[in-house]
Amino acid sequence: MKFFIDTANLDQIKEAHDLGILDGVTTNPSLMAKEGIKGHDAIMKHYETICNIVDGPVSAEVFGTTFEGIVEEGKKLAAIHENIVVKVPMIKDGIKAIKWFTDNGIRTNCTLVFSGGQAILAAKAGATFVSPFLGRIDDSNWDGIQLIEQIVGIYNAQGYMTEVLAASIRTPLHIVRCAEAGADICTCPLSSILGLLKHPLTDLGLAQFLKDAESMK
Ligand code: G3P
Repeated sequence: MKFFIDTANLDQIKEAHDLGILDGVTTNPSLMAKEGIKGHDAIMKHYETICNIVDGPVSAEVFGTTFEGIVEEGKKLAAIHENIVVKVPMIKDGIKAIKWFTDNGIRTNCTLVFSGGQAILAAKAGATFVSPFLGRIDDSNWDGIQLIEQIVGIYNAQGYMTEVLAASIRTPLHIVRCAEAGADICTCPLSSILGLLKHPLTDLGLAQFLKDAESMK
Protein backbone atom coordinates (compact mmCIF):
# COMPACT_ATOMS: atom_id res chain seq x y z
CA MET A 1 0.00 0.00 0.00
CA LYS A 2 1.28 3.44 -0.94
CA PHE A 3 1.27 6.35 1.52
CA PHE A 4 0.10 9.80 0.49
CA ILE A 5 -0.12 12.75 2.88
CA ASP A 6 -3.44 14.60 2.98
CA THR A 7 -2.40 18.21 3.57
CA ALA A 8 -1.27 21.40 1.86
CA ASN A 9 1.06 22.27 4.77
CA LEU A 10 4.62 22.41 3.43
CA ASP A 11 6.31 21.64 6.77
CA GLN A 12 4.21 18.50 7.24
CA ILE A 13 4.82 17.42 3.64
CA LYS A 14 8.58 17.86 4.16
CA GLU A 15 8.48 15.94 7.47
CA ALA A 16 6.64 12.98 5.90
CA HIS A 17 8.94 13.10 2.86
CA ASP A 18 12.02 13.04 5.12
CA LEU A 19 10.71 9.80 6.69
CA GLY A 20 11.35 8.20 3.29
CA ILE A 21 7.95 6.53 3.04
CA LEU A 22 5.94 9.16 1.19
CA ASP A 23 4.55 8.28 -2.27
CA GLY A 24 2.37 11.31 -3.00
CA VAL A 25 0.18 14.17 -1.76
CA THR A 26 -3.53 14.93 -1.81
CA THR A 27 -5.06 18.35 -1.20
CA ASN A 28 -8.56 19.79 -1.31
CA PRO A 29 -9.95 23.34 -1.20
CA SER A 30 -10.43 23.14 2.59
CA LEU A 31 -6.80 22.08 3.15
CA MET A 32 -5.51 24.82 0.80
CA ALA A 33 -7.66 27.49 2.51
CA LYS A 34 -6.30 26.35 5.89
CA GLU A 35 -2.82 27.38 4.73
CA GLY A 36 -4.07 30.91 3.96
CA ILE A 37 -3.40 30.60 0.22
CA LYS A 38 -5.36 33.18 -1.76
CA GLY A 39 -5.68 33.89 -5.47
CA HIS A 40 -5.00 31.97 -8.68
CA ASP A 41 -1.25 32.64 -8.88
CA ALA A 42 -0.62 31.73 -5.23
CA ILE A 43 -2.58 28.48 -5.66
CA MET A 44 -0.61 27.50 -8.79
CA LYS A 45 2.71 28.37 -7.09
CA HIS A 46 1.79 26.30 -4.02
CA TYR A 47 1.10 23.20 -6.10
CA GLU A 48 4.39 23.70 -7.92
CA THR A 49 6.25 23.95 -4.58
CA ILE A 50 4.63 20.70 -3.40
CA CYS A 51 5.62 18.97 -6.66
CA ASN A 52 9.21 20.07 -6.10
CA ILE A 53 9.25 18.43 -2.63
CA VAL A 54 7.58 15.08 -3.41
CA ASP A 55 8.30 12.98 -6.48
CA GLY A 56 4.89 11.33 -6.80
CA PRO A 57 1.27 12.12 -7.67
CA VAL A 58 -0.01 15.44 -6.26
CA SER A 59 -3.80 15.80 -6.35
CA ALA A 60 -5.01 19.34 -7.08
CA GLU A 61 -8.77 19.84 -6.87
CA VAL A 62 -10.84 21.86 -9.33
CA PHE A 63 -13.28 24.45 -7.95
CA GLY A 64 -15.72 24.27 -10.88
CA THR A 65 -18.81 22.08 -11.15
CA THR A 66 -19.62 22.30 -14.86
CA PHE A 67 -18.02 20.08 -17.52
CA GLU A 68 -16.49 23.08 -19.34
CA GLY A 69 -15.26 24.70 -16.11
CA ILE A 70 -13.71 21.47 -14.77
CA VAL A 71 -11.93 20.74 -18.07
CA GLU A 72 -10.62 24.32 -18.37
CA GLU A 73 -9.29 24.34 -14.79
CA GLY A 74 -7.95 20.80 -15.01
CA LYS A 75 -5.91 21.59 -18.12
CA LYS A 76 -4.28 24.53 -16.30
CA LEU A 77 -3.58 22.42 -13.19
CA ALA A 78 -2.12 19.56 -15.24
CA ALA A 79 0.19 22.03 -16.99
CA ILE A 80 1.84 23.05 -13.68
CA HIS A 81 3.89 19.83 -13.36
CA GLU A 82 3.84 16.29 -14.73
CA ASN A 83 3.02 14.92 -11.24
CA ILE A 84 -0.24 16.85 -10.92
CA VAL A 85 -3.38 14.70 -10.81
CA VAL A 86 -6.64 16.59 -11.38
CA LYS A 87 -9.05 15.97 -8.50
CA VAL A 88 -12.67 16.03 -9.66
CA PRO A 89 -15.85 15.73 -7.56
CA MET A 90 -18.23 12.79 -7.99
CA ILE A 91 -20.97 14.64 -9.87
CA LYS A 92 -22.48 14.12 -13.35
CA ASP A 93 -20.31 16.77 -15.02
CA GLY A 94 -17.34 15.49 -13.02
CA ILE A 95 -17.71 12.02 -14.54
CA LYS A 96 -17.97 13.54 -18.03
CA ALA A 97 -14.84 15.59 -17.33
CA ILE A 98 -12.94 12.54 -15.99
CA LYS A 99 -13.73 10.72 -19.25
CA TRP A 100 -12.47 13.75 -21.20
CA PHE A 101 -9.25 13.85 -19.12
CA THR A 102 -8.80 10.07 -19.59
CA ASP A 103 -9.13 10.44 -23.37
CA ASN A 104 -6.62 13.29 -23.31
CA GLY A 105 -3.95 11.61 -21.17
CA ILE A 106 -4.55 13.62 -17.97
CA ARG A 107 -4.62 11.67 -14.71
CA THR A 108 -7.58 12.15 -12.35
CA ASN A 109 -8.65 11.50 -8.78
CA CYS A 110 -12.42 11.17 -8.37
CA THR A 111 -13.23 12.60 -4.93
CA LEU A 112 -16.18 12.66 -2.51
CA VAL A 113 -17.00 8.99 -3.14
CA PHE A 114 -19.31 7.37 -0.60
CA SER A 115 -20.73 4.29 -2.36
CA GLY A 116 -19.81 1.30 -4.48
CA GLY A 117 -22.00 2.63 -7.31
CA GLN A 118 -20.11 5.91 -7.43
CA ALA A 119 -16.83 3.99 -7.48
CA ILE A 120 -18.04 1.95 -10.49
CA LEU A 121 -18.83 5.16 -12.42
CA ALA A 122 -15.41 6.63 -11.59
CA ALA A 123 -13.68 3.48 -12.85
CA LYS A 124 -15.81 3.35 -16.02
CA ALA A 125 -14.81 6.96 -16.78
CA GLY A 126 -11.17 5.90 -16.42
CA ALA A 127 -10.25 7.73 -13.20
CA THR A 128 -6.66 7.03 -12.16
CA PHE A 129 -7.68 7.11 -8.48
CA VAL A 130 -10.98 6.89 -6.62
CA SER A 131 -11.22 8.51 -3.18
CA PRO A 132 -13.74 6.94 -0.78
CA PHE A 133 -13.98 9.07 2.40
CA LEU A 134 -13.98 6.48 5.15
CA GLY A 135 -13.70 8.81 8.16
CA ARG A 136 -16.76 10.81 7.11
CA ILE A 137 -18.72 7.54 6.73
CA ASP A 138 -17.66 6.50 10.23
CA ASP A 139 -18.81 9.96 11.43
CA SER A 140 -22.29 9.16 10.17
CA ASN A 141 -22.48 5.83 12.01
CA TRP A 142 -21.71 3.64 9.00
CA ASP A 143 -18.63 1.46 8.58
CA GLY A 144 -16.13 3.21 6.31
CA ILE A 145 -13.85 0.17 6.09
CA GLN A 146 -16.74 -1.89 4.65
CA LEU A 147 -16.89 0.58 1.76
CA ILE A 148 -13.15 0.20 1.10
CA GLU A 149 -13.58 -3.61 1.11
CA GLN A 150 -16.57 -3.36 -1.24
CA ILE A 151 -14.78 -1.13 -3.77
CA VAL A 152 -11.61 -3.28 -3.69
CA GLY A 153 -13.84 -6.34 -4.27
CA ILE A 154 -15.69 -4.74 -7.20
CA TYR A 155 -12.50 -3.51 -8.86
CA ASN A 156 -10.84 -6.93 -8.51
CA ALA A 157 -13.94 -8.74 -9.82
CA GLN A 158 -14.24 -6.42 -12.81
CA GLY A 159 -10.54 -5.92 -13.53
CA TYR A 160 -10.81 -2.11 -13.26
CA MET A 161 -7.45 -0.34 -13.32
CA THR A 162 -8.52 2.60 -11.09
CA GLU A 163 -6.54 2.61 -7.83
CA VAL A 164 -8.43 2.73 -4.53
CA LEU A 165 -7.16 5.76 -2.61
CA ALA A 166 -8.63 5.55 0.89
CA ALA A 167 -9.23 9.12 2.11
CA SER A 168 -10.58 10.90 5.17
CA ILE A 169 -8.27 8.84 7.36
CA ARG A 170 -8.49 9.86 11.00
CA THR A 171 -6.45 7.30 12.96
CA PRO A 172 -3.45 4.96 12.65
CA LEU A 173 -5.89 2.04 12.95
CA HIS A 174 -7.69 3.29 9.84
CA ILE A 175 -4.39 2.89 7.97
CA VAL A 176 -3.93 -0.68 9.23
CA ARG A 177 -7.54 -1.59 8.33
CA CYS A 178 -7.11 -0.11 4.85
CA ALA A 179 -3.99 -2.23 4.34
CA GLU A 180 -5.99 -5.33 5.42
CA ALA A 181 -8.82 -4.36 3.05
CA GLY A 182 -6.45 -4.16 0.09
CA ALA A 183 -6.55 -0.40 -0.57
CA ASP A 184 -3.89 0.63 -3.09
CA ILE A 185 -3.18 3.90 -1.30
CA CYS A 186 -3.97 5.57 2.00
CA THR A 187 -3.92 9.36 2.16
CA CYS A 188 -3.44 10.40 5.76
CA PRO A 189 -2.77 13.34 8.03
CA LEU A 190 0.82 13.38 9.36
CA SER A 191 -0.49 12.59 12.88
CA SER A 192 -1.95 9.25 11.72
CA ILE A 193 1.26 8.28 9.91
CA LEU A 194 3.37 9.12 12.98
CA GLY A 195 0.84 7.31 15.17
CA LEU A 196 1.86 4.04 13.48
CA LEU A 197 5.22 4.33 15.26
CA LYS A 198 3.72 4.16 18.72
CA HIS A 199 3.61 1.19 21.07
CA PRO A 200 4.22 1.37 24.85
CA LEU A 201 6.18 -1.91 24.80
CA THR A 202 8.56 -0.41 22.24
CA ASP A 203 9.18 2.54 24.60
CA LEU A 204 9.64 0.25 27.63
CA GLY A 205 11.88 -2.15 25.74
CA LEU A 206 14.05 0.64 24.36
CA ALA A 207 14.43 2.24 27.81
CA GLN A 208 15.70 -1.11 29.18
CA PHE A 209 18.06 -1.66 26.24
CA LEU A 210 19.50 1.84 26.63
CA LYS A 211 19.96 1.32 30.38
CA ASP A 212 21.75 -2.01 29.82
CA ALA A 213 23.86 -0.51 27.03
CA GLU A 214 24.90 2.29 29.42
CA SER A 215 25.95 -0.30 32.05
CA MET A 216 28.37 -1.88 29.57
CA LYS A 217 30.30 1.34 28.83
O1 G3P B 1 -8.88 15.07 0.99
C1 G3P B 1 -10.04 14.39 1.21
C2 G3P B 1 -10.23 13.80 2.58
O2 G3P B 1 -9.10 13.09 2.96
C3 G3P B 1 -10.80 14.71 3.63
O3 G3P B 1 -10.66 14.21 4.93
O4 G3P B 1 -10.80 14.45 7.39
O5 G3P B 1 -11.80 16.24 5.92
O6 G3P B 1 -12.87 14.01 6.12
P1 G3P B 1 -11.59 14.76 6.15
